[in-house]
Amino acid sequence: MNTLMEKIETVLVEAFDRCGYDSSFAKVSLSNRPDLAEYQCNGALAAAKKYRKNPMEIAEALSAELGKNSMFSLCEAARPGFLNLRIGADYLADYLNGLNASSHLGCAQTGTGKTIILDYGGANVAKPLHVGHLRSAIIGESVKRLLRFVGYECIGDIHLGDWGLQMGLIIEETKARHPDLPYFDEAYTGCYPSEAPFTISDLEDIYPKASKKAKEDEAFAEAAHLATLRLQQGDPGYTALFRHILNVSIADLKKNYASLGVEFEVWKGESDAQAFIPELFRILEGQNLLYQSEGAMVVDVAEESDSKELPPCIIRKSDGASLYATTDLATLIQRMKDYRPDEVLYIVDKRQSMHFTQVFRVARKAGIVPPETALTFLGFGTMNGKDGKPFKTRDGGVMRLEQLISDIDSAVYARIRENEAIPDDEAARTAGLVGLAALKYGDLSNQATKDYVFDIDRFISFEGNTGPYILYTMVRIKSILSKYAEGRTAHAKNATASYACDSVNDDADTMIYGNDEISANMSADTGTLIRPAQNTTEKDLHLVLAKVNDVISSAAAEKAPHRLCQYAYEICDGFNRFYHETKILTEADEARQGGWIALLRFTLLVLSEIISILGFEAPERM
Ligand code: ARG
Repeated sequence: MNTLMEKIETVLVEAFDRCGYDSSFAKVSLSNRPDLAEYQCNGALAAAKKYRKNPMEIAEALSAELGKNSMFSLCEAARPGFLNLRIGADYLADYLNGLNASSHLGCAQTGTGKTIILDYGGANVAKPLHVGHLRSAIIGESVKRLLRFVGYECIGDIHLGDWGLQMGLIIEETKARHPDLPYFDEAYTGCYPSEAPFTISDLEDIYPKASKKAKEDEAFAEAAHLATLRLQQGDPGYTALFRHILNVSIADLKKNYASLGVEFEVWKGESDAQAFIPELFRILEGQNLLYQSEGAMVVDVAEESDSKELPPCIIRKSDGASLYATTDLATLIQRMKDYRPDEVLYIVDKRQSMHFTQVFRVARKAGIVPPETALTFLGFGTMNGKDGKPFKTRDGGVMRLEQLISDIDSAVYARIRENEAIPDDEAARTAGLVGLAALKYGDLSNQATKDYVFDIDRFISFEGNTGPYILYTMVRIKSILSKYAEGRTAHAKNATASYACDSVNDDADTMIYGNDEISANMSADTGTLIRPAQNTTEKDLHLVLAKVNDVISSAAAEKAPHRLCQYAYEICDGFNRFYHETKILTEADEARQGGWIALLRFTLLVLSEIISILGFEAPERM
């Protein structure tokens, strides 16, 4: 469905045409004087120069022409030549009802037929998830859902870090602990055990110990390095052990990501790309792109227009080992073969920006990725503590993701426990939902490229621009809707029924609701339409909601979930203003009341879709 702006523009174009002016001047924008108008067109000012006329004369002619259109309740020429516009309440209500009835909230499906691979998550096998992985997961998941909402086929690939030295370290440490395992017996020819020789808690102990040992003990470090090489050369025992490390880690990672509401379609990793490295070399050699430099094999990637010097991309080190860039290039070969994507989008820490510039340039130069496939790097900033430095635990260590989440959940739980009507187990569940919203919204409401300060007290506040505030507003709407439904059920049962609740703006947080009768009743009157707004707060809410397709489409085009946060906040503010002025449940005029209920349902629908794109959900009460 066309956005409201597009619809206004179409009408403006006709008016410019009819008045004999070039319709390319028919541009509309939100008014920067909301006290005077909702929208404005500055086209008469620009046209005045071309036609050497007084802009006011042009604006007045246009205003007279537009006055014939029922779309506007105001179209007024204002000095020195602006056109001030207000949408008619009837037109606006119709537009909202149209959005409500259309799929995807009227968002143009610009992505239909196109495939995007999103490379996000990037967890490293056997190493615990830390907050650095948090942003990639949260932003990547949300961008994926956003692009999917506008029609793209989206494939999320976690691209595990599973091929580095950490594998050799784990293998060596396991060997030190259990030297008798068959994986280490070079003469062994039987089948390797199907049961892993360690659990996830063992691995969580093994890796940090091994990593520490390697720093202190040179012989151990060397052994780990050799073990890594042996694994990479395909040693059967080490490969079998590697499979165990992978399986145990992945099962744990899946659990962790699920608790974050993050899900990957593809669980490939760096190790899967190794098979494509020979082909990478064939391509690069075939095109004479590869040359030796200080013993390493490199490809030049600098371009004349570069403002900063870009070093050559190293494909193979002097000791024969391949690097991060080698794997990423091999992965691109694999992805092109498997999916022929229209875009590969990387959601990775912005400090890796140079790496991706190098990889993209080699991929283009060598024709690994054709020009019609976009390569995009969405680099995100650092999550800092209140001291402005990268977020750490209280004793200065790396904060583990699980710890962070449990800290937030307990803070939220304490807040929710203040409402004594909510039983313990429900409070715990709700705290999980609200905590996740606090965490994700706290992150996503910032422009991804920027650093931000992780401030738990601010993030979990029920007021201000926070996830819990959005949820609180949704819970409030749910509560009004169910009270309304209860009232109607009672009404139907008993002709003398009065509404279950007489005081209007009583707090949503003390309500219990949700039974079958209510839902049956709710669906029975879904036919009700949103009615033309009768006052300013209602009209303002209509105007905010009418932007939904516009906002989601531009957020998707910019891959910018923070725009959705801003918008959700604007809706909640608009809703709360309206709600404070409107006595919905005690309204005697049923038709009028029904119109408001339809408005509430639509508001809830829009908010639900938005938070689902952001990657969290609302509880029934809080
Ligand atoms: N595993 C990497 C890290 O922890 C992130 C991987 C990002 N994706 C990629 N294709 N390089 O830094």
